Amino acid sequence: MTIHQNYSLKALNTFGIDVKARYFVAVNSVEELREALNRQWEYPILVLGGGSNMLLTKDLERVVLQIGIKGIEEIQRSNNEVVLRIAAGENWHQLVLFCLQEDLGCLENLSLIPGNVGTAPIQNIGAYGVELKDVFVGCEVMDMDTGKISYMDLEACRFGYRDSVFKKDLKGRVIITSIDLKLSVKDHQIKTTYGDIERELSNRGIVEATIKDVSDAVIAIRQSKLPDPAQLGNSGSFFKNPELEPSEFAEVQKKFPEIPNYPMNNGKTKVPAGWLIDQAGLKGYRVGDAGVHAKQALVLVNYGQAKGSEILAMAQHVQQVVAERFGISLQPEVNIL
Ligand code: EPU
Repeated sequence: MTIHQNYSLKALNTFGIDVKARYFVAVNSVEELREALNRQWEYPILVLGGGSNMLLTKDLERVVLQIGIKGIEEIQRSNNEVVLRIAAGENWHQLVLFCLQEDLGCLENLSLIPGNVGTAPIQNIGAYGVELKDVFVGCEVMDMDTGKISYMDLEACRFGYRDSVFKKDLKGRVIITSIDLKLSVKDHQIKTTYGDIERELSNRGIVEATIKDVSDAVIAIRQSKLPDPAQLGNSGSFFKNPELEPSEFAEVQKKFPEIPNYPMNNGKTKVPAGWLIDQAGLKGYRVGDAGVHAKQALVLVNYGQAKGSEILAMAQHVQQVVAERFGISLQPEVNIL
């Protein structure tokens, strides 16, 4: 376990923001993680996964722990299903590719999501009609005070839209060390009802899609809209899609009848933040190296040398313009530090 001081995090966050961590430690096993937690640090600990869902706005007077624990094992198998236990430091998309190679279904709609396995439950990653919670069995977590490992099942994680107990009661209290996912081994259920997937498959002349076809379609759709962090710094969707109360939605719809909307089971209506930002005329807007992506208005980008504070100022501008135009308050999806 090597301890670095004043360590640049530029290569470790997908926005590519150049800030320094007071201490930086990469841990590659559960034992190393426990050892790191046991030390008497004079700064609070911050856990870093793939660095794909955070905006760093200043140097961190923290001990940054990067979880690099690797490994994929099968822990259960039946006729139709298998449960895999995946260590927190595995890259999410590499896991999806591994599953396709082994002909295991369920993760194909979640192709190409940046980040690591251990951070996937925190915001219950989701895309194209599937969320992590749909395949999740449980996870092992380490208590940050005691170093003790315990198991949390699906219910204990209290998943919601881009939400979980790890963002609330357990924030800063546990570290996810592995997750268990239930995958299909045959008769895969293909989920293509999300509009874009069907269109993409039919453009490709595919009628009976395989899980590999669905993954390829999702990858193509994502690549057409979402910038590759290796080329253009970004953190995926910067804001959540707002969920409006019936009265709020009725008011907005009266003024903007064309607003796309998705009624939810809880009586609220979800509206796409990307559409609101786009309609407010901000798609492609840029100040210095901070911008609103030209192909997907929900994504903020760093054209090169933007500071975290400049991206944050852009986010606040977007919030203000959307609030003035639509009376809707956008909430960030990324963690701002
Ligand atoms: N739209 C616009 N202009 C834009 C962007 C979107 O008009 O610039 C409209 C689209 O035409 C569409 C609607 O907004 O009618 C929704 O757009 P899209 O299908 O691209 O999805 P999204 O709501 O913007 C969400 C997730 C993404 C996920 C996609 C696909 C959130 C916050 N974002 O985006 O997740 O990949 O759906 O399922 O829920 C992420 O979380 O980082 C992420 C990329």
